[in-house]
Amino acid sequence: MKKFLILCAFAWVATLPACDDGPVYEDAAAASPDGITLRLTGNLQGIESWSEEYSVVAAGFGESDYAVISRKITPDSDGEVSLVLTGIGSEVKRLELCVINRLRKRIVSFTSVDCSVASERVDMEVGTLDVSMFRAIQQNIFDAYCIQCHGGSAMAGAGLHLTEGRSYEALVNMPSTKSSDGALLVQPFDVANSFLHTTLNTDISLTQNWRMDHVNMVQFPDLLALLDDWIAAGAGK
Ligand code: HEC
Repeated sequence: MKKFLILCAFAWVATLPACDDGPVYEDAAAASPDGITLRLTGNLQGIESWSEEYSVVAAGFGESDYAVISRKITPDSDGEVSLVLTGIGSEVKRLELCVINRLRKRIVSFTSVDCSVASERVDMEVGTLDVSMFRAIQQNIFDAYCIQCHGGSAMAGAGLHLTEGRSYEALVNMPSTKSSDGALLVQPFDVANSFLHTTLNTDISLTQNWRMDHVNMVQFPDLLALLDDWIAAGAGK
């Protein structure tokens, strides 16, 4: 996995020029009246792989999963990003490089930084980062819920390896061993006929007495939708 650097530079402002009544000494812990400014720099690869339901953004979050403030990231043709998000209010506690859906709900996060003590400016330098839809799936679904039985240890259920570097080739356009009608595990553009979808969204593993029950293996509808949307968009890498 690529390492990235989060540089969180808090500009502790001691004095601010005031309009007419001499210098004003600001409480360093309090956000400035105009809010915090986030500057995000880095090289981001794979943004174009996201389907239109999603946006890769720099965003601020308070207590909930819904962005209080966000700005869509549009890298140049080399992937270079230099984005400034201003006016971040004190209700924002975390700043993230993340993916939100149309309701501005966070679906996955690539980088997150606590900004509750920042007074003026936060620099987020993320280095070179793969933020593709498939990497989000790898990290947030396969790594989190699957690899302990699918290649992360000595065992790979049904011979299926879902570990990073092997999962894509093991799934896309590959025949399923458990399906009785020769379905592919992932058939690009066809969610209903992709056996990966059937495995996680139906009770087939129960009714066919698999050695492992896959019902409720992923309990987050947003993540199941992410997988389906990836297939529907053509299952790109
Ligand atoms: C606790 C172990 C375990 C976990 C966790 C697990 N699986 Fe499985 N999986 C298995 C086993 C074992 C089989 C084979 C079942 C059998 O042969 O009866 C299997 C079979 C499958 C198959 C059928 C493969 C084929 O070729 O038809 C798919 C697809 C699958 N798993 C996907 C997943 C995904 C995706 C996750 C994570 C969200 C996951 N599994 C998590 C153990 C697990």
